[in-house]
Amino acid sequence: MIEIIPSILVKTREEFLEKIMAAEKQCERVHVDVADGIFVPNMTVGGFEEVKEIETTLKIGAHLMVSKPENHIVRWLDTPVDKVIFHIEATKKAQEIIATLKEAEKMVGIALNPSTPLEALKPIVDSVDFIHFMTVEPGFYGGKYIEAVIEKINDCRYFYPDKLIEVDGGITPENAAALVKAGANMLVVGSYLWQNGGLEKGLEEFKKQLA
Ligand code: DX5
Ligand code: ZN
Repeated sequence: MIEIIPSILVKTREEFLEKIMAAEKQCERVHVDVADGIFVPNMTVGGFEEVKEIETTLKIGAHLMVSKPENHIVRWLDTPVDKVIFHIEATKKAQEIIATLKEAEKMVGIALNPSTPLEALKPIVDSVDFIHFMTVEPGFYGGKYIEAVIEKINDCRYFYPDKLIEVDGGITPENAAALVKAGANMLVVGSYLWQNGGLEKGLEEFKKQLA
């Protein structure tokens, strides 16, 4: 079963709540994007306060597109978030971050930007729960899909046959099947789901294409 996960990349609490309410009716999990204006040239809500305040049945993952995630993760430890993704390019303290998150019983995903080679994973791959491949330059909804990342996903599946693979950015029902064929287990989708007639219709399209 391929999981399609709507992303929430917003600048205000109102937009955050709006998207949470829409997602609650249609899915089990959302992906909350956090951008700090340093690691990526965009800024979102902080996310941790918002997720603490809501009451929801949704499972929530946080994607930290931030510089020095070691200075951010402590805020997420006592939130209901069950997955935390941080970028390998953003820190020299990956091992420490993973240990802290694991102690708090969070699932940990390590994110790779489109141009970051698979080799960057080597020192930590055994300690993370999943690998998160960016298929756009991170930071925004609607980034340009970079097809070449498929090769890296293919290699990853070959080298790490049992690892969960999540892919994020520019995904549509048209390109989803190729990502799944390469080895993706989870697909994070933003603009396609929020723009094309809403979540219900969008999720239906993915189901059809991946059936
Ligand atoms: C991109 C974010 C993605 C984004 C996906 O920087 O990490 O999660 O929300 O949105 P689309 O599908 O529009 O690329
Ligand atoms: Zn994301």
